[in-house]
Amino acid sequence: MTSSPLGGVEGGAQAAPIGEPVLTVRDLKVHFRVPRGGYPWSPKATLRAVEGVSFDIRRGETVGLVGESGCGKSTLARAIIGLTPVTEGSVRWRDTETVSDGRRPAAAMERLRKDVQMVFQDPLASLDPRMTIEQIVTEPLKVQRPGLGRDETHARVVTMLERVGLGAHHLSRYAHEFSGGQCQRIGIARALVGEPQLVICDEPVSALDVSIQAQIVNLLRDLQRELSLSLLFVAHDLAVVKTISQRVLVMYLGRVMELGTRQEVYGSPQHPYTRALLSSVPRPDPATERTRKHAVLTGEMPSPLNLPSGCAFRTRCPEAIAACAEQVPQSVSRGTGDRRVACIRVGVDLREAPPVV
Ligand SMILES: Nc1ncnc2c1ncn2[C@@H]1O[C@H](COP(=O)(O)OP(=O)(O)OP(=O)(O)O)[C@@H](O)[C@H]1O
Ligand code: SF4
Ligand SMILES: [Mg+2]
Repeated sequence: MTSSPLGGVEGGAQAAPIGEPVLTVRDLKVHFRVPRGGYPWSPKATLRAVEGVSFDIRRGETVGLVGESGCGKSTLARAIIGLTPVTEGSVRWRDTETVSDGRRPAAAMERLRKDVQMVFQDPLASLDPRMTIEQIVTEPLKVQRPGLGRDETHARVVTMLERVGLGAHHLSRYAHEFSGGQCQRIGIARALVGEPQLVICDEPVSALDVSIQAQIVNLLRDLQRELSLSLLFVAHDLAVVKTISQRVLVMYLGRVMELGTRQEVYGSPQHPYTRALLSSVPRPDPATERTRKHAVLTGEMPSPLNLPSGCAFRTRCPEAIAACAEQVPQSVSRGTGDRRVACIRVGVDLREAPPVV
């Protein structure tokens, strides 16, 4: 085991027993119709925020979702939980199609509300300022466990608050009286009090100080193991994702570039985008940091309103060849398990490759 930049223990991410797939996402697309100019009356264009994403999450597994700002992470997370309409594709939660051919059956939402919860990026903004902490944490229980009596509800709320490191004396206080880290603990208590089976955490620590980040990530990891939860952990910080995830999904401009176990993605990244992202993470050892080669990620991510032809990453890819402009790389299975990479050059001997364009 080795120490992570977050102060956690990297090897610990493997401890939970992983079961069968519980969430299955296939070819999911989320498009928005937005004004092309700066005014509401400008002609509309299609913004492809999520463009054909497929992956699974297994019982007791944490899947990390990484990518630069604007690549579609939150949109994907919100589409899965039903907060954003889906354009095409399917989502299956256990034995229920929650999205089928882009449509969401009404009954599916009820199932999702019971089994799936979300932890948001901005802890204070996600808590209602007019409600006490007891009311905030009790609210989801009314939907998820409507049969519980008052005493049992109260006991569950107190136990959950204690589990996230807050005492019963906090019950009658309001969110603005707490620090950012404490607010995120309340957000986690709220998400977990009804015993969901999947929790989607959308950048749960990026608004917090680094020292608090480690506490919250460790808390989530402990709760995940204890409750055999499945987690989708969204972040743009690769060090944070490495600490908590068993598998990692790398996203760029709405598409999956690489998917694999933590060891595969961090130990032998195959996609040029993954390599560039990892290269931008500083190493704790100054000697290694000085000598290693950086695959620098230059330029800006193109607008999802105007995707490049062929490979979405080609305008920034140091390994691009002429063919990259002509074909959209399919997500191809690589090696063992369900590792997948979407790059036409991976696994192909291109010593005779046409020149870069
Ligand atoms: N409701 C919406 N209407 C129109 N466009 C949207 C909407 N929500 C998101 N987008 C656009 O979809 C794209 C993906 O946004 P999203 O918030 O999913 O990215 P992200 O990866 O979560 O970024 P960040 O790391 O900054 O949170 C962006 O171009 C964004 O402007
Ligand atoms: S398909 Fe081409 S442009 Fe895309 S990542 Fe692979 S080499 Fe780079
Ligand atoms: Mg986001």
